[in-house]
Amino acid sequence: MSLKIAPATGTMMPLHAKARFIPRAIKADIAMATEPSPNARRTETIDNIELILAHPDEIAMEWIGNDRLRRQLVASWMVVEPRDTPLNPRLIGQPGIGKTTLGYAVAREMGREVYIFQCTMDTRPEDLLITPVIASDGKIGYHASPLVTAMIRGGVCILDEANRMSEKSWASLAPLLDQRRYIESIITGLKLRAHEDFRVCCTMNDDASTYEVPEYIQSRLQPQIELGFPDRADEKKILKFNVPFAPDDLVEMAVDYLQRAHRNYLRFTPRDAVGMLRLCLKLGRMNDQDPRMFFEDSVEGILGQDGIDFLNGIIPASARQSRPGQRMEFDEDDDESS
Ligand SMILES: Nc1ncnc2c1ncn2[C@@H]1O[C@H](COP(=O)(O)OP(=O)(O)O)[C@@H](O)[C@H]1O
Ligand SMILES: [Mg+2]
Repeated sequence: MSLKIAPATGTMMPLHAKARFIPRAIKADIAMATEPSPNARRTETIDNIELILAHPDEIAMEWIGNDRLRRQLVASWMVVEPRDTPLNPRLIGQPGIGKTTLGYAVAREMGREVYIFQCTMDTRPEDLLITPVIASDGKIGYHASPLVTAMIRGGVCILDEANRMSEKSWASLAPLLDQRRYIESIITGLKLRAHEDFRVCCTMNDDASTYEVPEYIQSRLQPQIELGFPDRADEKKILKFNVPFAPDDLVEMAVDYLQRAHRNYLRFTPRDAVGMLRLCLKLGRMNDQDPRMFFEDSVEGILGQDGIDFLNGIIPASARQSRPGQRMEFDEDDDESS
């Protein structure tokens, strides 16, 4: 038997026991190397066709505030008895108001894998379903989209900014979005039924640069969950969650500004405020000054002239919400008007 002197104690140790002396840092590296890589290839063979699966999204997102919206989404995805099917909600509201965050956070709360599919005007039906890709060995590999991967694995798919898609792409989803719950891939000839745990929702921005969603699809995307602006307390929590290193007085400045913008039906959102806070802090650090000194620069950097006009008391017409009159939730004592 081979023996080795252990450096720490000087006692004679058999070789197989030497792992005990691996320093902690190296052990951590070994552990990382043996864990499956998030990019490891995952496949599923269906009717003799091997599909290469997409990877779920892992993002530190938390939904803050409005529990009523969260519960609407949870209820939509529930199945109350075997003859029931889940609904496919659409989350609507201004860009940057938290639609993707709500969908993602609720899906993760339910313990599901979440697949976010970013829809664009160029999204083709096969991009939504299965695409053929030629591998280096010349063979064709079939890539399942995030949507189809969620269907196979019983995950949740968020069709993000879905109203950017053309009618042709929507048409391929019609059977999936009703009781049939399947898709047909022309490229592979597969008819694929969704796992019973599969859930889907769409997010849709209220802006003009999108297609009208066809009526027969709209009727399959129910219920509509409309996100309004957060109240003052929630807005503060959202900013503190997203920029936890921002000092309170700077967060207050941003919340004051945003709440005033909401009261005036402007389209400025928590996403803009997160950007403003981060820019303030960077400019402050770079110039070695109080970040509040750079609030105006940050407003200009993130919101442009509209933001500056509003800072100076002008209500910029070009920054009005495209669909004003969304439900807003203000604190009762927050009665400042401008
Ligand atoms: N209620 C909320 N809870 C937590 N974060 C929020 C909330 N609303 C907005 N945010 C933050 O605002 C940013 C934009 O949210 P996002 O979900 O991407 O908006 P949308 O999908 O509506 O464009 C993100 O940084 C997100 O963390
Ligand atoms: Mg989004």
